[in-house]
Amino acid sequence: MIYLDNAATTWPKPEGVSQAVKDCIDMLGANPGRGGHRLSVQAGEVLAKARRSLADLFGIRDPQNLFFYANATQAINQALKGLLQPGDHVVISPWEHNAMARPLETLKKECGIRVTVVPPSPQGTVDPLAVEEALTPDTRLIAMTHGSNVTGAVLPIEEIGAIAAKHGVLLLVDAAQTAGVLPIDVETMNIDLLAFPGHKGLFGPQGTGGLYVHPDVKLEPWIQGGTGSRSESLDHPSARPDGFESGTPNTPGIAGLEAGVRFVTQTGLDTIHRKEMALNDRLRSGLQEMDGVRVYGPEDSSLPVTSFNLEGVDSLTVAGILDQHFEIAVRAGFHCAALAHRSLGTDKTGTVRVSPGYFNCEKEIDDLLAALREIREVLL
Ligand SMILES: Cc1ncc(COP(=O)(O)O)c(C=O)c1O
Repeated sequence: MIYLDNAATTWPKPEGVSQAVKDCIDMLGANPGRGGHRLSVQAGEVLAKARRSLADLFGIRDPQNLFFYANATQAINQALKGLLQPGDHVVISPWEHNAMARPLETLKKECGIRVTVVPPSPQGTVDPLAVEEALTPDTRLIAMTHGSNVTGAVLPIEEIGAIAAKHGVLLLVDAAQTAGVLPIDVETMNIDLLAFPGHKGLFGPQGTGGLYVHPDVKLEPWIQGGTGSRSESLDHPSARPDGFESGTPNTPGIAGLEAGVRFVTQTGLDTIHRKEMALNDRLRSGLQEMDGVRVYGPEDSSLPVTSFNLEGVDSLTVAGILDQHFEIAVRAGFHCAALAHRSLGTDKTGTVRVSPGYFNCEKEIDDLLAALREIREVLL
């Protein structure tokens, strides 16, 4: 099987990841922070180590401001639902994943939040000036994806961060497609809240992700319950990170995530990015040489994500044939990103999305291109 769906979840994982998960299950089976015995303390150290590695990667000064969740979606929900109050105004991009757009839609309908979607820029990203123009005296939050999971477009988060800081507005960044792929520094980019998955560019197992929250941001825990601290009290603690991590965490998954982050830092973001982009560029040039293929998104996209359609063939049909006849896994349809497809004009058709990863090779891209040529010949 040729796996080219790394934007959904990376696979395979680096060697050390499954070993770290297994070691944690076999040797540190206890519940972190839920007892004074040594196994519980050691399990707590697994979480602390991963928090430190992630904090180093994202330029976070105090790792206690980073909370673990099961994925980016939970982290985004915690950020939005723990922050926004009736009457607040939020500015978002036209490239948001449903993980951002859907909770905001609910907050709009049920809690009197107002949302402005800035228009796409001609380059297929967003113009920071359009973000600034969308701000109102009630704007509490700019909430944007760092990179589109449909086109691979990268948004100018650093410029948007400067605008947010200038106007005293908070910035929430969805780093689902960029964590472990592009450099992120929450301080220099003025990011107040950073949501990230562990299972994509950070090479962790599924069921991992997290949220960074600047120490000055007042956030309510979206989920309450046992935290292992202040257990005698019925009031939910607000201490970080405990107050934001109710319930038993995914300790084995987080051990694997730490191994994934270590792989990223040891290999180097640059090395990983260069290899993935070389594969992506090979794919894009191959597609552009084919007749009857429409490729979407910016020419100079700097994420290894490419969307296209074979004219006259439904995207799901293409992906189905690739899977059934060629054993090539790509994603088709709408990629959980309704807004992005409205912006691209593909809200009726969807797209075929190919996302090469670090462990793919040139031959796999060439095999995909050959398969697409064959599909075109047979179907058109
Ligand atoms: C841009 C973007 N945001 C959010 C998500 C949701 O991530 P998760 O599956 O970790 O919840 C994804 C997943 O594909 C994504 O691409």
